[in-house]
Amino acid sequence: MKLRRVCTVYFSPTGGTERLARALSGELAALFGLEEAFFPLTLPSGRGEPLSFGPQDLVVAASPVYAGRLPNKLAPVFAGLLHGEGAPSVALCAFGNRSPGDALREWLLLLEAGGFVPVAAASLACRHAFCDAIGAGRPDAEDFAALRDFARSAAPSLAGPAPRPLAFDRETPIAPYYTPLRTDGAPAKFLKAKPVRLAGCTRCGLCAGLCPMGSIDGATLEVTGVCIKCQACVRGCPAHALRFEDADFLSHVAMLRERFTGRAENAFLL
Ligand SMILES: Cc1cc2nc3c(=O)[nH]c(=O)nc-3n(C[C@H](O)[C@H](O)[C@H](O)COP(=O)(O)O)c2cc1C
Ligand code: SF4
Ligand code: SF4
Repeated sequence: MKLRRVCTVYFSPTGGTERLARALSGELAALFGLEEAFFPLTLPSGRGEPLSFGPQDLVVAASPVYAGRLPNKLAPVFAGLLHGEGAPSVALCAFGNRSPGDALREWLLLLEAGGFVPVAAASLACRHAFCDAIGAGRPDAEDFAALRDFARSAAPSLAGPAPRPLAFDRETPIAPYYTPLRTDGAPAKFLKAKPVRLAGCTRCGLCAGLCPMGSIDGATLEVTGVCIKCQACVRGCPAHALRFEDADFLSHVAMLRERFTGRAENAFLL
């Protein structure tokens, strides 16, 4: 089947996943001479209607890694929204320099169950949403060059009359979620943590529009719903007036800074 366009579906609260997804989409579009279309799933408004693709759509599906898996509140939403109907797909996971865990395999199984035909997959390191010093500067020129090579290597599996399905481990149960640790090695318990609004808040309301969970009340600016700690509001606040102050959360970030500032390896499945 002749490919018609590259469709990029992504969830990306702090932009790292989106950068990688757009770079890969651009490479694939250039290789095959295709148009690009983008389907952001980051905000609730992008997740209202199911998205159906077909064999003529090459779908780049990209998600960040949270706790070694797909974001737990979003994975069932992705499963409900995304319908492949035979579309070849390339799965992408962006991880924050600690570990990609089992997220990529979870993504591949989800996509396959939704009717996509995964032909290639990659986990790429990114700056950690929690702290700029973890995965600092990633993705960098080396990562983008690796992504270019990956796109070229995946091309033959996509070019034929039918996409060549990726061989990957479908049998091993997906690993449990990673338990975040504090600097003292004990589990960091910050499930209920949410950002605190500081005196510098100008009440511009921007944070309410940035929250992927729609959890910030536009009138009161209080976090009234579930917080997935994605950092979209913290990083997006122009007044730098949002901060996590939960002691276990901060200790976890300090632990990551102590132990995960070395250069993490990317992984490619072809
Ligand atoms: C709640 C949460 C959990 C995370 N868990 C992991 C993890 O287990 N391993 C890892 O390497 N990075 C982890 N990260 C870092 C993200 O994978 C990384 O920052 C990613 O680039 C964020 O994507 P975005 O920039 O598109 O929002 C986590 C980030 C958040 C917000
Ligand atoms: S984005 Fe920042 S300044 Fe604007 S309302 Fe939210 S916390 Fe206040
Ligand atoms: S309130 Fe929580 S879920 Fe919403 S943007 Fe901020 S960190 Fe993300």
